[in-house]
Formats: sequence, C-alpha cells, structure tokens
Amino acid sequence: MAFFSSATKTIPVVAEIPKHIAVIMDGNGRWARKRFLPRVAGHARGAEMIRDLVKSCSDMKVEYLTLFAFSSENWRRPEEEVSFLMGLFMRALKREVISMNENNVKLMVIGDRSRFDASLIKQIEDSEQMTENNTGLILTIAANYGGRWDVLQAVNKMQLAEPQLAGTFQEEHLTSYLSMNYAPEPDLFIRTGGESRISNFLLWQLAYTELYFTDTLWPDFNEAALNLAIQSYQKRERRFGRTSEQLSGVIADTAT
Ligand code: FPP
Repeated sequence: MAFFSSATKTIPVVAEIPKHIAVIMDGNGRWARKRFLPRVAGHARGAEMIRDLVKSCSDMKVEYLTLFAFSSENWRRPEEEVSFLMGLFMRALKREVISMNENNVKLMVIGDRSRFDASLIKQIEDSEQMTENNTGLILTIAANYGGRWDVLQAVNKMQLAEPQLAGTFQEEHLTSYLSMNYAPEPDLFIRTGGESRISNFLLWQLAYTELYFTDTLWPDFNEAALNLAIQSYQKRERRFGRTSEQLSGVIADTAT
C-alpha cells in the first residue's frame, strides 16, 4: 500500500486541481419538497447527479472522489426512507458499474457493512471486484460510515495487530488501519444544502482540508457549481501552520 503523508507531520504538495475531493451530498429532501414531491424523489435525483460529478472529476483529473451516501446516524430516519436509500444504493451499484468500467473508475465502499442485507453486501463486493483493476478516478462511497466509528475500528485493529507497540503508536500506525488508508487526505471538502457541519464524516483526515459550504441543494449541484467550489479552493492560501510570509515564493515544500 502506498504511504501518504499526514498534513500534521509534513507539508503536502498543493496542486491547482484538488487531488482528493470529499462531499456531503445534503439537501435532497428540501429539493423534493420545493417541487411538492416525496423526499425520496430528491434522493433519486441526487443519485443521478453522482454520474455527472464522477465524469467531471475524471475529466479534470481529480484522483479521488469520496461521497457520504449514508451515515451511521441516518438509520434514525423513517424506516421507509432508510429502505428506499438501501434499494437506491443497490440499484445504482448494479446500473453504474458498467459505466464506471467504461470510464476506468475504481469503486471502493467504506463503512460498517454488517448491518446491510446479505444481497447488498454481495452487490458491493461484486462491484468493487468488477472495477478493481481500473486505474482512473477512485470513487469511494461512504455507506453506514461515521468518522468516530472509523477511528475506533482502526484503534482496535491496531492494538490487536501490534500489541508490542502499545503506548508508542504514531499517527502513521493509526492511518494505516483507517478505512481510507489507500487515499491521501482530502484537499477539498464540499457540503451542499446550506449547513456548515462535518457531521461525523472523515474526522481524522479533514484536519487540514479546505472546507467549502454552499447553499446549493445536492440535486442542483452541477458542473458549474463544482467549478465554483474548485475556484474557491484555488483562492485559498494553504499554510499548514506556516505564516503567509513563509509561503511567499514557496510553491511546494515536501520537507519534513
Ligand atoms: C442528505 O439529504 C442526503 C442523504 C442522507 C443521502 C445521500 C444519498 C444520495 C445522494 C443518493 C444515494 C446514493 C448513492 C450512492 C446511490 P437530506 O435528505 O438530508 O436532505 P434535507 O436536508 O433537504 O432533508
């Protein structure tokens, strides 16, 4: 597995186009309500938007796109909505795997699968397997995912695997057990739908990520909206703890 540097330990190389974008797709329910449609119609439209986003990100050579599809807290929603979301996920996996292969997209799913139906677990495994040799964009779907769950499962695995290191664990030990150990930390985090929260998404990895919040509802988040987010990212000064003065003249500094 590739080793990715930690933004708290080293200063990452900053590129014009974010290497890794993480998204909370919020606002489906409100989008539907505005049109006098049931909430689930917003989710259905939201799922369709993912295809365009994947295409746009692939075209602009974003390397990793991570989408929060279902949080560990979303089980608290009405049962019909939860079951609709599960069915939508299943259908989307079945349908989209073909176009993912055509577009060289590799699919990964993170989160606790144990609560899913056996048929959904199988579909996830099959879809990951069918795209595993693709070398383009890595699309990660976070499903029944929570940032605290992720850190805890990593700590538990790490302690079992390396008990001799107890009391001396370093960041890089922990990161190697996180569910996104195959990806660098996100450069850009986008949340649609007007709320300014991280909502238990990638808690560990977002330490130095640029945060972008927009009122646009997820089903309206088109390529133009993505471009606005990227333009906002490009205007940020990513200091990683340094001063502005230190940054002038520095394009990329990978020194530890
Ligand atoms: C938040 O909108 C959205 C979700 C909880 C689910 C996100 C799911 C999708 C975009 C579609 C399914 C995903 C896949 C991968 C097929 P909300 O319901 O909280 O909206 P609201 O805040 O307006 O009520």
